[in-house]
Amino acid sequence: MKIVLTGPKCSGKSTIGGRLAEILGLPFIETDSHLEDRYCAETGDRRSCREICADEGEVSFRAREADAAADIAARDWCVVATGGGTMLDPETRSLLVSGSMLVLIKAPVHLLWERMQKTGLPPFLRCADGLSEYQERVRRLYEATAHLADIVFTVTSENEGEAHLLLADRIAEATLRRMRSPSSFGEVVRVTTFGESHGPAVGAVLDGVPPMVEISEADIQRELDRRRPGQSAVTTPRSEEDRAHILSGVFEGRTTGAPICVLVYNRDQDPSKYEAIREVFRPGHADFTFWKKYGIRDHRGGGRSSGRETAGRVAAGAVARKILAERGITITAFAQEIAGVRGEVEDLGFIERNPVRAADPAAAGLMEEAVLRARADKDSVGGVVKLIARGVPAGLGDPVFFKMDARLAMAIFSIGAVKGVEIGSGFDAARMGGSENNDHMRDGAFLSNNAGGILGGITTGADITLRVAVKPTPSIFREQETIDTRGAARTVAVEGRHDPCIVPRIVPVVEAMAALVLLDALEIQSKIGGAG
Ligand SMILES: Cc1cc2nc3c(=O)[nH]c(=O)nc-3n(C[C@H](O)[C@H](O)[C@H](O)COP(=O)(O)O)c2cc1C
Repeated sequence: MKIVLTGPKCSGKSTIGGRLAEILGLPFIETDSHLEDRYCAETGDRRSCREICADEGEVSFRAREADAAADIAARDWCVVATGGGTMLDPETRSLLVSGSMLVLIKAPVHLLWERMQKTGLPPFLRCADGLSEYQERVRRLYEATAHLADIVFTVTSENEGEAHLLLADRIAEATLRRMRSPSSFGEVVRVTTFGESHGPAVGAVLDGVPPMVEISEADIQRELDRRRPGQSAVTTPRSEEDRAHILSGVFEGRTTGAPICVLVYNRDQDPSKYEAIREVFRPGHADFTFWKKYGIRDHRGGGRSSGRETAGRVAAGAVARKILAERGITITAFAQEIAGVRGEVEDLGFIERNPVRAADPAAAGLMEEAVLRARADKDSVGGVVKLIARGVPAGLGDPVFFKMDARLAMAIFSIGAVKGVEIGSGFDAARMGGSENNDHMRDGAFLSNNAGGILGGITTGADITLRVAVKPTPSIFREQETIDTRGAARTVAVEGRHDPCIVPRIVPVVEAMAALVLLDALEIQSKIGGAG
């Protein structure tokens, strides 16, 4: 990326640009000096822009200016300072601006004019109404560039000494803003989800998947059916069939290496239920925060913050799971606890045979009763999901910031209603002695797994185990106190079709996110190599 600084004559763009380039460790190029260097290389004569223009005339000079700018436009990672001559030409301007961060340096005209008296007026301003001519040129430059600028910085006599430092901060902020793509996740295998609860569709684009992997809509459908609303009495009655449509990236049943787009239409929407609460913030929901952050929100079912967004995750996760299974890695999650009823037995074969997705046959019925009781009481309940990933090789995860536990926690925390993630013995480790918590080793294996399969952010080869705290469903048909968009006191009882407990439906979502993290980590590791 280039940082292009533009501004009127004497705005200080060259001084600021030079200093900025120094702090950023980037080369600094001025379009004028570049033109002069090119002229010198061509003619063997070193002359200033002013002299070249006087000699050759305006038309030829402007052509040289455009050529020099085009040459600079083709470069990357540099700081460029350029003036009105270059930026007022539409073609040159668009060349320079494309792929760059544009900084417009403004200054009060009286300050600029004062400075120009000292540096010497160019010939075209040496006339009786030089100041108004100059003002007009400054106005034209601002008009041509302000709307394109990422940063508009006003230099004053007070801040000019530290302008480059202030600008460096603004550039860092703007770069961060550009790098943000909060609906995408993953490095090599990258998923982007799209769609809102009551829009036409939700889905995902999964990029970075290797070619030749056999995948069908049925593979994806199997997982979507586990997340689908309306699957049993303990989930929302919204009856979406959640049919998977693969739009791209799969040819004759195999991945092509191109981005895989899976679309799921929203069929059973009923936005009318939300009309009465268009202006009201539902307690426990993201209504207030979306409103505060964006100033606009889709009030129908929470829009983007809805659990429906997770259909895209599950679709993408289905592809990841298929690839992982071929590499001997399986991921299984289940309801370990609902409404305080905790299962002790871990019978993984039982999970899909009961509506709450418990692994303990004795606890499953009690959990189900608790969910139905909550619904009858116009309330909701939360719970704990446990996930086990088997067959994960040792060596995945990238210290320090992309440790495997950090990646998994981030992925799972990004799911709505998740309020806690613990790895291995997690919070219990805080109450143990080292003698109890350390996993001893013998004959190349661990004798226990309090670490949850991760040490130092790197997988150990043992099962990855983690637990997820899921809050009770925020939408309940009970009167609750809240405010509306004008800050007025309101009460609300949330009508609509909701899960009295999110746990059974979040299980496949947790698995999907873990699968995406593990596949990404495997692909990253295959690029790094390592001791193995
Ligand atoms: C699979 C899934 C289904 C969900 N279903 C509902 C629901 O039916 N009703 C509801 O109020 N919240 C539901 N949620 C939770 C809300 O989306 C979430 O709690 C809300 O957006 C606030 O975000 P936060 O809990 O992460 O702070 C669901 C979440 C997930 C992941």
